[in-house]
Amino acid sequence: MCGIVGYVGHSDGRVNAGHNALGVVLEGLRRLEYRGYDSAGIAVVADGTISSRKKSGKLSNLIAELEASPLPESLTGIGHTRWATHGGPTDQNAHPHLSDEGKLALIHNGIIENFAELKLELVRKGVVFQSETDTEVAAALLGDIYRNQMGGDAAKGGLTRAMELACQRLEGAFTLLAIHADQPDVVVAARRNSPLVVGLGEGENFLGSDVSGFIDYTRRAVELGQDQIVTITADAVEITDFYGAPAEGKEYHVNWDPASAEKGGFPSFMEKEIHDQPDAVLQTLLGRSDIHGNLTLDELRVDPELLKSVDKIIVLACGTSAYAGQVAKYAIEHWCRIPTEVELSHEFRYRDPIVDENTLIVSISQSGETMDTLMAVRYAKEQGAKTVSICNTNGSTIPRESDAVLYTHAGPEIAVASTKAFLAQITAAYLLGLYLAQLRGNKFQGEIKDILADLGKIPAKVQHILDNEDQIKELGRSMADAKSVLFLGRHVGFPVAMEGALKLKELAYIHAEGFAAGELKHGPIALIEEGQPVFVVVPSPRGRNSLHAKVVSNIQEVRARGARTIVIAEEGDEAVKAYAEHVFYIPETPTLLAPLLTTVPLQIFALALASAKGYDVDQPRNLAKSVTVE
Ligand code: G6P
Repeated sequence: MCGIVGYVGHSDGRVNAGHNALGVVLEGLRRLEYRGYDSAGIAVVADGTISSRKKSGKLSNLIAELEASPLPESLTGIGHTRWATHGGPTDQNAHPHLSDEGKLALIHNGIIENFAELKLELVRKGVVFQSETDTEVAAALLGDIYRNQMGGDAAKGGLTRAMELACQRLEGAFTLLAIHADQPDVVVAARRNSPLVVGLGEGENFLGSDVSGFIDYTRRAVELGQDQIVTITADAVEITDFYGAPAEGKEYHVNWDPASAEKGGFPSFMEKEIHDQPDAVLQTLLGRSDIHGNLTLDELRVDPELLKSVDKIIVLACGTSAYAGQVAKYAIEHWCRIPTEVELSHEFRYRDPIVDENTLIVSISQSGETMDTLMAVRYAKEQGAKTVSICNTNGSTIPRESDAVLYTHAGPEIAVASTKAFLAQITAAYLLGLYLAQLRGNKFQGEIKDILADLGKIPAKVQHILDNEDQIKELGRSMADAKSVLFLGRHVGFPVAMEGALKLKELAYIHAEGFAAGELKHGPIALIEEGQPVFVVVPSPRGRNSLHAKVVSNIQEVRARGARTIVIAEEGDEAVKAYAEHVFYIPETPTLLAPLLTTVPLQIFALALASAKGYDVDQPRNLAKSVTVE
């Protein structure tokens, strides 16, 4: 939520063609735009003054503004792409915000919770605010401290010291980046609960909300801890806490390829990422078991004895990741016989949940930065629970603060609505379930080996669905005028139905609901009228406990009331044809693993329908990929 970039270039005063601050910052913003696109802005220091431009709407609006009114060449700059919290998405509320008579520029990600009292204090001192944002309050506070408390003396620790003093007064979650005309070769940043990473270059250094902010220039990154301040110049990176005591960050190598964050010939990131899914599942499975089917989850460094004593699992997540958690529940309870709850992170800690040292918390987060999930994990840790994170983003906060991590290897997911990360999360959750079953002796090794073999076949089956996507794309395009679409599923098909509905809401802005098929008759069936489109995820007819017949009955219930039924069924399920206007077949697979396949046609449907309406599927309105406010 909000993308942030900072850059300081060569200290010898030379502006290298590619490394003019403007170019570096704009490139970083382009890569970080998925974090928010309500406005964008940039500020640079040149010739002893701050110059800035900002514009509401997408980054392209800022670029047009810069073409009309160019910024001077510079070695030091900051840039911001916004997801609005305080104040609407206007030019005025866009970052950067200036203070100290235009000599200081500041950008911010997060929410300053005590902004109202600070604002009052500053208004009493004569500050006149231009915007409705909490960010401008932070800028004014920093400017006031620098100018009035420190006498504007850059020699006394300058902007870094002022930032320390300001952070001591701020409450909430924030990443702040500031530049000052008095210190043209410095960017100072502070971090509390919101993400910030340093990029180490040669004769230049970078800051970003995540590594994509500088991936074109360096693979050396430094993780910062909580409540830290970092001062970068072209040649140095200094980290302190909010009281000036030296602190350290942890350096790591970024191993993803910038090309994997490009569209690769597809018209959108979303379409590319849907097509990345065979690989996302494959990569997440790779190297996690030996030839005997023993799971070797090396990153899962929780004492096996502790894992054996777990008597309850709580999965915490939001959005699509929470639906991955719902799928995980079915698998973990079935394989491990451990009671498993799934809870939306933002509901969890406010209801006095029962958590103790025998509780295993499994958080699921693509970004590893979702504030709701981070806070819920912290709360559970305080209660003594063990915490495992399933995460797609190396070095992000949630895995760092958890006892153990199981990384998904979906590669960077850029489209705001999640697709490939979802399949990778489900895959990782299966691995975790099987690992627990292995450890606790709930399953024979041979059984685990068989399930792993079935999982190993999933990438080719997903590919098969993608190779035959035209039929579902055509249906999506033909339904561009639909006002409402319902999705039904039972057992693991239920979270898939909810994810199908979420994709349609997110991408196509259509009213969509996912229901447990058996629940329909208890109320939602009143929604069905002539012509209402209803997707039904039909379970395999194979197996003793198949719910196939029950779901077919549910289809008949809605058809009897005029619904148009669109069915996702297993290859060979001829019986279902009689009850469906359209049938999309997926390859045979064991029921528990079916979500890895049944989800895919629903993603393609939402993508095709939204594209037919002319919507931007990568950056849907009002959304942000990484939600770093509560
Ligand atoms: C946002 C995104 C969703 C995502 C959710 C959870 O709302 O728009 O696509 O599922 O956050 O994100 P996480 O990074 O924690 O998986």
